[in-house]
Amino acid sequence: MVRTLYWEDGAAMILDQTKLPDELTYVKCIDTDMVAECIINMRIRGAPAIGIATAMGIALGAQPIRAEGYGDFVKDLESAYKTLLATRPTAVNIEWAVDRMKFFLENHKSEPVETLKKMLIEEAGKVLEEDIEINKAIGRYGVAFIKDGARILTHCNAGGLATGGYGTATAPMRTAHAEGKKIHVYADETRPLLQGARLTSWELKEDGIPVTLITDNCAGALMNRGEIDLVIVGTDRTARNGDVANKIGTYMVAVLAKENGIPFYVAAPTSSIDFSMPSGDMIPIEERAPEEVTMVYGKVSIAPEGISVRNLAFDVTPAKYVTAIITEKGVFRPEDLKNLDEEGADLEKFRL
Ligand code: MRU
Repeated sequence: MVRTLYWEDGAAMILDQTKLPDELTYVKCIDTDMVAECIINMRIRGAPAIGIATAMGIALGAQPIRAEGYGDFVKDLESAYKTLLATRPTAVNIEWAVDRMKFFLENHKSEPVETLKKMLIEEAGKVLEEDIEINKAIGRYGVAFIKDGARILTHCNAGGLATGGYGTATAPMRTAHAEGKKIHVYADETRPLLQGARLTSWELKEDGIPVTLITDNCAGALMNRGEIDLVIVGTDRTARNGDVANKIGTYMVAVLAKENGIPFYVAAPTSSIDFSMPSGDMIPIEERAPEEVTMVYGKVSIAPEGISVRNLAFDVTPAKYVTAIITEKGVFRPEDLKNLDEEGADLEKFRL
């Protein structure tokens, strides 16, 4: 499958997802600002993918620093953290990646600055490789919920393109497909930026996984007609009480799933769980430009000029609608997350 991002000759190569599915082009990012621009303008998007890009953006930010001592070096690196933290607010993975890189430096403070610069590049590469392994583990746990012949609904893109590869919501689907189960995926188109139409349906089709594209408005009708067996989505940030922030429209899907007696699963790396956040109402929700709603591709106007618009990019699905959260460490009931400490150290104990 196509690579979302990778290192090449000291530059972060980022697949420009705004051009998909028509064009496959990479942006060559040589500094923090270029990575931040890619995140803000959603050339790269999806919580785990923007976490990995953040790690790379920090490594790039370290390269031109001239300071010789550790103290000055980390001080100079702070502007890179700030730039990346200011890009998009909802996905906790950006904060997670900043913390991880800070922690890494803290643990290697005795190394010379020039060595640290190289080590940061390697560490960001590790974040990428680990993400793919994490997704495969999500696939191994999640496949248990997919029967032969299952019809699965997903929303937005929590696929390979939203991660280092393999995807979170798509991981159980890919695993089931690889095991020879006959599955069929229904992809919500996901207004306004059409991640379902442009990205999910494209990547699944490319990989030979049967997929049908539907409008967001069609999901409830299909559920009501008995044509959906389960829902699997991703998350940008899940709070300690199991409330799940994900792409706008996820809440509607979850309520409809409950109404129709359909299980609703959230697939997420544990880096997308914010153990410090007690509940979903505290999750910062990004609001984006009105033009994303009033225009198609920034070119064709579909609304009266000057119309008032609300363009919330994410919503919060209360834990009561979530059947289970599928992570790389096992499957959990949303209500069990509250039993975990800040680090999620007791995670093993609460597995389903
Ligand atoms: O605005 P986007 O495209 O970054 O939103 C992405 C989503 O909502 C995904 O479902 C979420 O980040 C999980 S990706 C594994």
